Amino acid sequence: MNGFRVGEDDFELDGRPVRLLSGALHYFRVHEAQWGHRLAMLRAMGLNCVETYVPWNLHEPHPGEFSDVEALGRFLDAAHEAGLWAIVRPGPYICAEWENGGLPHWLTGAVGARARTRDTEYLGHVDRWFGRLMTEVVPRQHDRGGPVIMVQVENEYGSYGSDQVYLRHLADLLRFEGVTAPLFTSDGPEDHMLTGGCVPGVLATANFGSQARTAFETLRGHRPKGPLMCMEFWCGWFDHWGAEHVVRDAADAADALREILECGASVNLYMAHGGTNFAGWAGANRGGGALHDGVLEPDVTSYDYDAPIDEFGRPTEKFWRFREVLAPYAQGPLPELPAPPQQLGAPAAADLSRWAPLSAVMESLGGPDAEHAVPPTFEELDVDRGLVRYTVTVPGPRRPYPLSVRGLRDRAVVYVDGVRAGVLTEEEPSLPEPVAGHARVELWVESLGRVNYGPRTGETKGITGGVLHERQYLHGVRAQGLRLDAFSSAQAVRGVPASSEAASGRPGLYRGTAEVHGPGDATLQLPSWTRGFVWVNGFNLGRYWSAGPQTSLFVPGPVLREGVNEVWVLELEGTEGETVSLAPVPPERQ
Ligand code: GLA
Repeated sequence: MNGFRVGEDDFELDGRPVRLLSGALHYFRVHEAQWGHRLAMLRAMGLNCVETYVPWNLHEPHPGEFSDVEALGRFLDAAHEAGLWAIVRPGPYICAEWENGGLPHWLTGAVGARARTRDTEYLGHVDRWFGRLMTEVVPRQHDRGGPVIMVQVENEYGSYGSDQVYLRHLADLLRFEGVTAPLFTSDGPEDHMLTGGCVPGVLATANFGSQARTAFETLRGHRPKGPLMCMEFWCGWFDHWGAEHVVRDAADAADALREILECGASVNLYMAHGGTNFAGWAGANRGGGALHDGVLEPDVTSYDYDAPIDEFGRPTEKFWRFREVLAPYAQGPLPELPAPPQQLGAPAAADLSRWAPLSAVMESLGGPDAEHAVPPTFEELDVDRGLVRYTVTVPGPRRPYPLSVRGLRDRAVVYVDGVRAGVLTEEEPSLPEPVAGHARVELWVESLGRVNYGPRTGETKGITGGVLHERQYLHGVRAQGLRLDAFSSAQAVRGVPASSEAASGRPGLYRGTAEVHGPGDATLQLPSWTRGFVWVNGFNLGRYWSAGPQTSLFVPGPVLREGVNEVWVLELEGTEGETVSLAPVPPERQ
């Protein structure tokens, strides 16, 4: 029997049993010019396969309008060139600490809780998307000489729902679009997750971070036959803004990996290399225990994940330990590590002397400004990542009353008659001081990332309830959205008029240049800045936030150039710092 197939006990390649030693690496979290290096690092660690998700919202920003879906094809070609097989997990939902779990905002805004079900409106969009996406996957399958050996159906569906009609539709759709590679599902090793997420006739795999024996026993309770695979071995974890940095001990992770392999199972390290949530694509969780219905916990920009290959592409202690564990399972001696990427030659400071207030940025780059009876959501304004300015009048004369926001997601910097009056959040929805009428209130509301996991996935952003004075709704709300995408036109950003006033630390767009000698991988440091986004030569490095634990942003070397580099900082709350500087990447973690 030729080709790759799912056997009774093992995966088989050309009739021989084969073990998949795979590592997750998301092409959309690594600068394309660095894919080759990272893939070579996977090989050097002892892996024979790479796994990637595909984020629908990145590739279909507006319904029917696709953006660089070819990136997936280019990545699969790079994997092939690196001598790796590939596992593709196209979703349509991917979780992955990615904005909205990969679902487009225009889709969840329209279908709400009908997403990830048999609903015909939802499936109509899925069908169109997979029709486009699979043209990148199908010709690159193993039976056509390409690297793709397996394709996933949905993602941990059993952690979300129980619509078997939906799962069956997805599996049939993949076949209809020409996928001949084996299909699989992946779920937590719990009975309710497996019964919710498995599809009859489709390989089931399990996701976990430890206790492989117990996990596989549970899986065997549902699938007595078939190769065992841990599709997500969580060898690290991710961070939330305002929380402690999470690490997983290297020796402990190596032991857990050894246990998986001793079970005779295949594995996919999640993550082998995490990379970066560039351009504000980080998702968010809801805390609050098993229900995942509590406070918003937005994910940081780094997706280092405490993975064996760190955010900068360097081998960590975990890398060396995993290499030791994996080496005996390899077909021959492991390849050497590739040459490390070029590092920044010398520190450089950016001079950010051009400043424009947020209102000027909104005027130049924002969407249409219109009045609505009640505040529209981000979805209604077609804002995926970015902010919305809501303006409302408190009628007068009237005595001072508390001003509050119902259903605020996620954060509003509020001005009353042009004077800053406070920052509101879901937990602190009222201004500290009462407001008298007549007054003009501006609320600059920012999304900190859409929820990517649990029952609140896909919830809308913005003011989703209303603005209240005492208990009275304030109607007649002007709203204007500013998508981060608006910054992808350098010409438009350069055209934002600079103020003649001094910035004095106020929010707004700070622009300037940094002189670089010896471009290479760097970090961007923003001491005393509060929260916002940074672009270098038009490349959005992601969100920074003084809440920590992340304190600097990764700048991939290929973004920089010798000489003058353009830097823009969109500061949303105000800054006490003036400096933004580029520094070489910090010393290796041990
Ligand atoms: C689940 C999901 C992944 C990721 C991990 C946590 O297993 O399937 O996409 O979110 O959790 O990192």
